[in-house]
Amino acid sequence: MAKIKSLDELLKIKESAQSKVDLRVKGENIDDLVQIKVAMATCGIASGAREIMNFLIEEAGKQGLDNVVVTQTGCMGYCYAEPTIEVTLPGKEAVVYGNVTQEVAKDVIEKTIKNGELIDGIIPKTHKTIDE
Ligand code: FES
Repeated sequence: MAKIKSLDELLKIKESAQSKVDLRVKGENIDDLVQIKVAMATCGIASGAREIMNFLIEEAGKQGLDNVVVTQTGCMGYCYAEPTIEVTLPGKEAVVYGNVTQEVAKDVIEKTIKNGELIDGIIPKTHKTIDE
């Protein structure tokens, strides 16, 4: 196992382990939960996806939202719009948000998850490349 070199690294490992435990515990009724997937390809990580994931986990926890599962996923194909997250509310179609800042992440929690509202920044499903 690699050596942990800072408190920050340790906290990241803790958060990531916690979200995996939560997912296992909640895994049986996953369709009843709000699922947030954070694209964590190299481009996503370089654009701050890890920080956004940590922020979402922290913010959902702060607000006592125990129906939210945050996980990481690989390439979603939206390099140009990283950090990118996919939000699925129970019984609804998944929505992808691009260029997610902490402000957008907070709005996703406040508006989309708590009130079911869509906010600016959705990447249309039909979008294939930046030129289309
Ligand atoms: S490599 Fe960037 S989204 Fe796939």
